[in-house]
Amino acid sequence: MDDETQPGLKARTIACQALNAGDCVTRAIVPPIHLSATFLRDPDNGYSSGCVYGRPDSRSVRQVEELLATLEGAEEALAFGSGTAAASAVVLALEKPTHVVASQVMYWGLRSWFKNIGRYGHAVTFVDTSDLQAVQAAVRPGHTGLLWVETPSNPLWTLTDIAAVAEIAHAADALLCVDSTVATPIFTRPITHGADLVVHSATKYLNGHSDVIAGMLATARDGSYWKGVKEFRAQIGATLGPFESWLLMRGMRTLDLRVMEQAKTAALLAERLIDHPAILTVLYPGLPTHPGHDVALRQMRKGFGGMLSIRLKGGESVAIDVAAKVKVWKRATSLGGVESLIEHRASIEGPGTPCPADLLRLSVGLEDPDDLVSDLTRALDNHC
Ligand SMILES: Cc1ncc(COP(=O)(O)O)c(C=O)c1O
Repeated sequence: MDDETQPGLKARTIACQALNAGDCVTRAIVPPIHLSATFLRDPDNGYSSGCVYGRPDSRSVRQVEELLATLEGAEEALAFGSGTAAASAVVLALEKPTHVVASQVMYWGLRSWFKNIGRYGHAVTFVDTSDLQAVQAAVRPGHTGLLWVETPSNPLWTLTDIAAVAEIAHAADALLCVDSTVATPIFTRPITHGADLVVHSATKYLNGHSDVIAGMLATARDGSYWKGVKEFRAQIGATLGPFESWLLMRGMRTLDLRVMEQAKTAALLAERLIDHPAILTVLYPGLPTHPGHDVALRQMRKGFGGMLSIRLKGGESVAIDVAAKVKVWKRATSLGGVESLIEHRASIEGPGTPCPADLLRLSVGLEDPDDLVSDLTRALDNHC
């Protein structure tokens, strides 16, 4: 059935039909999970199926990779055991010791990882990548081989102009990798703006049900660097298992519907919360007051995503108390699932975080928007 994919379809159609990845033997609409760890060799000693061994060759893994590559407009995509593994592969596949320029505000786990890349011979400079002059100034001609941008970035939802940063990267002969976990291919397709690589924590919106840890990496083009990434993944065994791949693909079938609805509710929440007397600021790229709003208008198709943050006038203790008092919102880390999550980020990020102590991060799920608004405003009303 894989050959029946029709070109020119919209993302929602492509995702919900999962590239027609059914089963050609039974004509099943739902693909089987291909669990085999090894494959039969032909009598002439070849492997005409293209499959040799489960680590690099699972059909279930390939199906989800093909789906993401199509949604991103990528040449190819690879699935990894986590978003962190996908991100690490980008750096560890670099051919020589390289200087990396990375967003100052980004998922804290990856920022911590980047801080330690000296052990692999690389160096990193963190900059505010929404400031193009700062990005340009941080680039060391002849040394900088990678620009790493998260947009919108955790947890301030800072926007980086992908096209402008791609120009800076390419003028320096460097690669641009965009962590597009929060935007998803429904809102932003970084490759169409000039990015070379796109990384996702598929644990988040792509899967969308908080029940799979996975990562995806997509490339604008094949070539020696991408070949190195593939070899690296196979050699260190950082692949995704068939069952997780299958679950991820099932989640991706509803990606468009989910994120559109989540963005709608996030925009509503941002508007309702902005004038609440307990709130200092609402950070949401869809608000005209957000510093990255103009870039978001250019770069985010169809919506501004399902993530927002609020800063509380009463500071850290009030933020922690509000998170303690909500009932519909769940106090948990992560984002992009169907259930709404609230988190005091500074507590989890620890000392040195650029995240303000008065900030709560909100991952908007699929509950009724009125329930989300009233639950949060009830908790906030205690602090007016
Ligand atoms: C933006 C972003 N990128 C990457 C990651 C890492 O992904 P994973 O937890 O799947 O390793 C996360 C995790 O929270 C994230 O939020």
